[in-house]
Amino acid sequence: MPVEGVSCGAIDQRFGERDVDIETEGLSVEECYRLLTGIVVPRPIAWVTSLSETGVVNLAPFSHFTFVAAKPPMLAISVGRKAGRMKDTAANILANKEFVVNIASFDLVEEVHSSAIEYPPEVSEVEKLDLETRPSLTVRPPAIARCPVQMECVLHQCIEIGPRKTQLIIGEVQRFRIRDGLLRDGKIDTMELHPLARLGGPNYATLGEVVTMAAIERTAKS
Ligand SMILES: Cc1cc2nc3c(=O)[nH]c(=O)nc-3n(C[C@H](O)[C@H](O)[C@H](O)COP(=O)(O)O)c2cc1C
Repeated sequence: MPVEGVSCGAIDQRFGERDVDIETEGLSVEECYRLLTGIVVPRPIAWVTSLSETGVVNLAPFSHFTFVAAKPPMLAISVGRKAGRMKDTAANILANKEFVVNIASFDLVEEVHSSAIEYPPEVSEVEKLDLETRPSLTVRPPAIARCPVQMECVLHQCIEIGPRKTQLIIGEVQRFRIRDGLLRDGKIDTMELHPLARLGGPNYATLGEVVTMAAIERTAKS
């Protein structure tokens, strides 16, 4: 089905299905964003705590999030701009080089969603949402106490991408803090974690059906 305001190319019928061919050149940022956030799903959410230079605890969710290296463990979040200005999370991380990636389980959906409200830097989302924090062990920003997994990170690299200077922030995990009972034989019990995921629009999901396949023989990681 054509997307409103989007110029469409030829309808391709080779595969017996009508598909819509959209050239990205003519799309606005909003149009690209809308397509990508509906296509790249479900996305895990990095719920990031960082500290301002005056000590305000900032909290915000980022679903453009993944891990990018295993050892040392590295995570990446992609932070867009607000009318060209840096978001508080990016400004804090660039200033003091530390942050915590908290992983929320599904019961925290309201708090995660509300923590994206755009408060000025001197207002703490943690206080607004009445969320309890706990001190981290290796970095200064505290963690969100209710989160079953907390990853204490130091900034490894920030790469500015494209003309809009989207900030890809890569952090090295210094410490994993995992709730008791979630870890079995060094692996996370994913059903027990009950992670919250983001879809397109203000839509969220959690795990659906899980299928287990035969393990594939593989070369040891180096
Ligand atoms: C679930 C969720 C995921 C989000 N993911 C991102 C993201 O990956 N990148 C981004 O720039 N903004 C994302 N946002 C929007 C930011 O959270 C929002 O701009 C927030 O106000 C930034 O806060 P800060 O200025 O305190 O850093 C997301 C919002 C929600 C609700």
